Amino acid sequence: MEKLDGEGMNIVEHNIGKLKELFPEVFSEGKINFEQLKELLGEYLVEDEDHYNFKWYGKRKAGRLAQTPSLGTLRPCKEESVYWDTTQNLFIEGENLEVLKLLQKSYHRQVKMIYIDPPYNTGNDFVYKDNFKDGINHYLEMTGQLDSKGKKMGTNSSTAGRYHTNWLNMMYPRLKLARNLLRDDGVIIISIDDNESENLKKISDEIFGEDNFIGCVMWNSTKSVTNTAIISVGHTYNLVYARRRDYFKVNRHHFRLPEDGDGFSNPDNDPKGPWKADPFQVGGWRPNQQYEIINPNNGKVYFPNDGCSWKNDHSRFKELMEEGRIIFGLTGDGGPQRKRYLSEAENRGKVSKTWWDDLGTTTSGTQSVKDLFEGKSVFSNPKPIDLISRFIELGDHTNKGIVLDFFSGSSTTGHSVYQLNVNKGAIRKLLLVQLPENIDENDQDNLQAIEFCKQKKIPLKISEISKERLRRAAKKIQLENPDYKGDLGFKVFKLDSSNIKRWEADFNTLEQDLLNAIENIKQDRTNEDILFELLLKQGLKLTVQIETLTIKGKTVYSIGLGALVVCLEEDISMDVVNGIGALKEELEPEIMRVVFKDDCFRDDVVKTNALQTLKRYGIDDIKSF
Ligand SMILES: C[S@@+](CC[C@H](N)C(=O)[O-])C[C@H]1O[C@@H](n2cnc3c(N)ncnc32)[C@H](O)[C@@H]1O
Repeated sequence: MEKLDGEGMNIVEHNIGKLKELFPEVFSEGKINFEQLKELLGEYLVEDEDHYNFKWYGKRKAGRLAQTPSLGTLRPCKEESVYWDTTQNLFIEGENLEVLKLLQKSYHRQVKMIYIDPPYNTGNDFVYKDNFKDGINHYLEMTGQLDSKGKKMGTNSSTAGRYHTNWLNMMYPRLKLARNLLRDDGVIIISIDDNESENLKKISDEIFGEDNFIGCVMWNSTKSVTNTAIISVGHTYNLVYARRRDYFKVNRHHFRLPEDGDGFSNPDNDPKGPWKADPFQVGGWRPNQQYEIINPNNGKVYFPNDGCSWKNDHSRFKELMEEGRIIFGLTGDGGPQRKRYLSEAENRGKVSKTWWDDLGTTTSGTQSVKDLFEGKSVFSNPKPIDLISRFIELGDHTNKGIVLDFFSGSSTTGHSVYQLNVNKGAIRKLLLVQLPENIDENDQDNLQAIEFCKQKKIPLKISEISKERLRRAAKKIQLENPDYKGDLGFKVFKLDSSNIKRWEADFNTLEQDLLNAIENIKQDRTNEDILFELLLKQGLKLTVQIETLTIKGKTVYSIGLGALVVCLEEDISMDVVNGIGALKEELEPEIMRVVFKDDCFRDDVVKTNALQTLKRYGIDDIKSF
């Protein structure tokens, strides 16, 4: 029985595979002939050192960090979840670099839109210090899960000398990993302020490709003025990148805002409904769009202005006249205009502009949180729901994509997805990640959050506020929409070290270490913990349908209608093996992969017979964990 591959997706291997697909000729005995590759790339090679390149201290190391697989896992936490059995939404409590690594296989090219609002590097923002050697243990220590004290996470003061460097080293590997998760029609939107906007643009251009930059939306984030400032900041930048801009070039209408009907009316009772008059003149001189138009009401003759053309050629103009779509001003005495109907505009959607000042501000973001948390401001500067909702509507035209936010904060993105699903009949799915960052008791800004957590007896962690907001938002929405049957739940998973013991022998405890290694699963882990680690390693989603069956007293999980069958029990007899074979006959999956625990069979005879029996049922893919 073959052993299952122990690690998640190996990004280097994955990339080599892609290179092999493109340039098979440069590979020999598994190695790349670089000289040959250079020749194939011809004039696209950078020849000298002086080419445009954005560098900072630690960039290489940060890049490598994105490529080392995580040694962690995601453990299910049903007690903190809502509607565990049915929900397709996920809330992952953990450090996002490790979590993104763990999601690489299962969510590769699966995410429709990513919105993130990372720490802005204002000097007080904490920056999680990545540990190159052991991300997981470091994470457990930093979040106080490994020793009782828990190390303090750093702030990134501008006097530290590596102010921008630290921030860039934090963002670079995370954005690299995030890109791998985006679908071909995927979009990422990143909020940022003046402190790092230039740096963020540069690394995003590098990671996502400068051709894939769609624009920068300026959001008017506050209406108030800071009188003590030299110049009072009232905006936030939001960089928008497509995974592939060429997708949106062909499918422009897939990146549109809903038409709100503003400015449409029906003064002439047009049977086609409300309309708006658009100019029939466009800039630029086009020879086939130059002709005279006579106003039939008063005989006045019109030509396009100098350097302009009519919007359509003459034959299309005639059609539009016959359809009654050309009007001559509201009184009938003016030049030609073209009617645009609301019904058509709704189908086409509205082109977004880069300047957004018609939405809520940070004040309304704070108010939405207060409304849910009994009047307490439990999170500083959350984004307003209407802002994130607009990003989501722009980024996911399908209405049913996965929306990822790996700096989830107070879960505004989650609240927005719930709200949009109810209001617009969408079925988007959530994937939120938030660090269990301690809420600093010495910070005056946190007084209300601390009071709330203590009152409700919940741990003083930001992730607790994030989950609580989702629960409270869902309750409120359900109360306001009693007939709504959509998904208002979420499954909680928590980042932890792998369920499988690593060989970490210490000379002084060698004998005990050896004994421990015989049982390769950690003692405090459940079969469900192991099951989900296995799903991630197999590249299956955490929300995949799992059926729990009992075969001759043993628990057997059937995943994806029998595509994967997992049995993590011990002392397995031939009855159980035959039961699994019968399952194959009943469910008829094209291929059934079966996974057992190491040394799970009653004895060696059962083991040998089991493999042969399963083969007779047509099950060849049998692995141990
Ligand atoms: C600016 S806030 C996001 C606010 C959010 N958009 C909202 O409206 O509530 C950034 C969040 O990222 C979290 N964070 C920072 N570093 C993280 C990391 N390495 N992994 C996961 N979360 C992290 C912080 O705890 C903070 O809550």
